[in-house]
Amino acid sequence: MKNYKNVHILDHPLIRHKLAIIRNKDTDTKQFRDIVKELATLMAYESFKDVPTQEIEVETPLEKTTQTVVKENSIAIVPILRAGLGMVDGILTLFPAAKVGHIGLYRDEETLEPQEYYCKLPTNIEQKVVMVVDPMLATGGSACDAIKMLKKRGCEKIKLLSIIAAPEGVKKVAENYPEVEVFVAMLDRGLNEHGYIVPGLGDAGDRIFGTK
Ligand code: PRP
Ligand code: URA
Repeated sequence: MKNYKNVHILDHPLIRHKLAIIRNKDTDTKQFRDIVKELATLMAYESFKDVPTQEIEVETPLEKTTQTVVKENSIAIVPILRAGLGMVDGILTLFPAAKVGHIGLYRDEETLEPQEYYCKLPTNIEQKVVMVVDPMLATGGSACDAIKMLKKRGCEKIKLLSIIAAPEGVKKVAENYPEVEVFVAMLDRGLNEHGYIVPGLGDAGDRIFGTK
């Protein structure tokens, strides 16, 4: 795959270790859910080195000092339903004050085209850094649709966090939206004839919610 300036692969032994567990078809729903959450925390830490900050005055037991903190009201997390929900709590661990919006999309099983069924976003989202989260970036259709919806509402600073990506999805997002920063934990080989990522982990939504 071509090297895209806006795509970052967060390779780390700990991330690989956790990925090996969620890829395993015998991993149960609870462990799958727990690890998706942990991976989201690790990915959010890495992808938010440029988090907006502000200076505040703090009084230590010894003196007054100026300190740097995360800027108030600066972050929104937007999971793509359903599977993206599994990443939200892991990110809120680091950014407890973040606002959360929801975009509902499902892939038509035949065409693989995303179908929109829900959208509820925080007010003033256009003034925030928006982190779109979805564990799987397969054809890239869902991520591109979500980004399009956010741009239509005026969002300018958008990041996409996906745990596993196929080269096809990365290419689609990176080329359509070079201004969006894409963070993935692992780039897999590709897509199978049903549009599933291989080796992948199967259907992320079903595995998080135990629906199959
Ligand atoms: C999965 C996944 C992504 C999408 C990725 O959702 O969570 O949203 O597919 O595929 P794409 O890159 O080809 O668009 P799905 O449509 O299965 O819905 P679900 O999360 O409700 O199960
Ligand atoms: N959606 C999933 O949940 N898994 C894939 O492999 C592709 C799309």
